[in-house]
Amino acid sequence: MAKIIVIDDEKNIRDGIKKSLEYEGYEVLSFESGNKALEIVYKGGIDLVISDLKMSEKTGEEILEEIVEFDNKLPVIILTGHGDVEKAVEMMKRGAYDFLTKPFSLNKMSIIISRALESRKIKEVKESLEKRVDYDENFYGMIGRSKKMIKVYEFIKQVAPTKATVLIEGESGTGKELVASALHQSSNRSAYPFITVNCAALSEGVLESELFGHEKGAFTGALDKKIGRFEASNKGTIFLDEIGEINQNVQVKLLRVLEERIIERVGSSKPIEVDIRIITATNKHLLEEIKEGRFREDLYYRLNVIKIEMPPLRERKEDIPVLIDFFIKEFSITHSIEITNVDKNIYKTLSSLSWEGNIRELKNTIETMIIMSKDGKISLEDIPKYVIDNSKNDFTVNGIIPLSELENKYINYALAKNNFNKAQTAKALGIERATIYRKLEE
Ligand SMILES: Nc1ncnc2c1ncn2[C@@H]1O[C@H](COP(=O)(O)OP(=O)(O)OP(=O)(O)O)[C@@H](O)[C@H]1O
Ligand SMILES: [Mg+2]
Repeated sequence: MAKIIVIDDEKNIRDGIKKSLEYEGYEVLSFESGNKALEIVYKGGIDLVISDLKMSEKTGEEILEEIVEFDNKLPVIILTGHGDVEKAVEMMKRGAYDFLTKPFSLNKMSIIISRALESRKIKEVKESLEKRVDYDENFYGMIGRSKKMIKVYEFIKQVAPTKATVLIEGESGTGKELVASALHQSSNRSAYPFITVNCAALSEGVLESELFGHEKGAFTGALDKKIGRFEASNKGTIFLDEIGEINQNVQVKLLRVLEERIIERVGSSKPIEVDIRIITATNKHLLEEIKEGRFREDLYYRLNVIKIEMPPLRERKEDIPVLIDFFIKEFSITHSIEITNVDKNIYKTLSSLSWEGNIRELKNTIETMIIMSKDGKISLEDIPKYVIDNSKNDFTVNGIIPLSELENKYINYALAKNNFNKAQTAKALGIERATIYRKLEE
């Protein structure tokens, strides 16, 4: 049970609170002044502190300050007199969890306390998660330990320290942006800017002046001089996303940057040297674009010094369960929804889908499922129907596999397509309902 400290110089108030909280099952230590209480806090093991504001030896304000410095996750609730609301609000800005104005109802106090304890738990879980993830399963925000992903991580580690231009190819939602950021973070440029430009999101004219900047009066509307993103990312990394979308004019200018590391602001012919690493990404087949005459071949070879190909999720399905767990944790924290029970069939069913939208689609699906979950449970019925409908059936196998394995895949697919209704599925498969139950057991 949670351990609570109560500090108030009025005996009847601290006794009253102590009695009421003990009745609720909390362990309570009460003090008439701050110093002794703080000694106990510093020993650790305290879950919450309730402190009066106006006291002679140490004020509530001073007590709060010391506690926040010691452990900013330890919730402090301040007790104030009638005229002190302004002060109390100020204390919340300095880290108090909440305040209660005397006289207050014990019921209200009890609600605030349980909320405070809950929020502390969430913060702790989040912290331990981040720590754990940092050390063993997370590579700069990327989850997944499949052979294909390990290869990607190894490759990133190898090329990050160099200045080589990198082209990242892969379907939408495979994590290209995360790879670009990992390349930057694990390079010796990490203390300098990492700037992303989404080339598809900007119209032709805008893109050019975004990238290169412009001089005052360079074109109508150029009221002031503007520093472009290339200059802004000096000494760092610039990530040009959706590079397949840039027009011929910008392609020529980009070629010059790649060859000479020199830019010119729009409306100026003064060359400016930049020290940048360039990373680009695309989900288009640039070779096709070259064939169609939309993308310069010489530019392609300059961009494609090092190529990283992101595997689609369906080619590394063994990563799906860990990704599911990771996103469940992430979104249960974001939405403050505690998930205590995940139907084991979720892993099997979600792993059987083709995920055309890759990790982004899986991530969005898990978020929806958490929001729609009931009583902390996630069950098969929570899988949005459109996710299943959008999934292509996938019975491709490498070589020969046991028939039972293929059968298993097919049954799961049929179940998903039939809203997990076993009777309906059995009918669609032309077998007895009992048979389906038996096969699922197996
Ligand atoms: N390995 C991974 N582990 C955890 N989260 C991931 C992983 N890969 C991608 N994500 C998440 O999936 C989402 C999509 O990733 P990202 O934006 O990097 O994809 P993309 O390849 O750039 O897609 P697009 O081509 O559509 O821009 C992001 O929210 C990202 O954080
Ligand atoms: Mg992207």
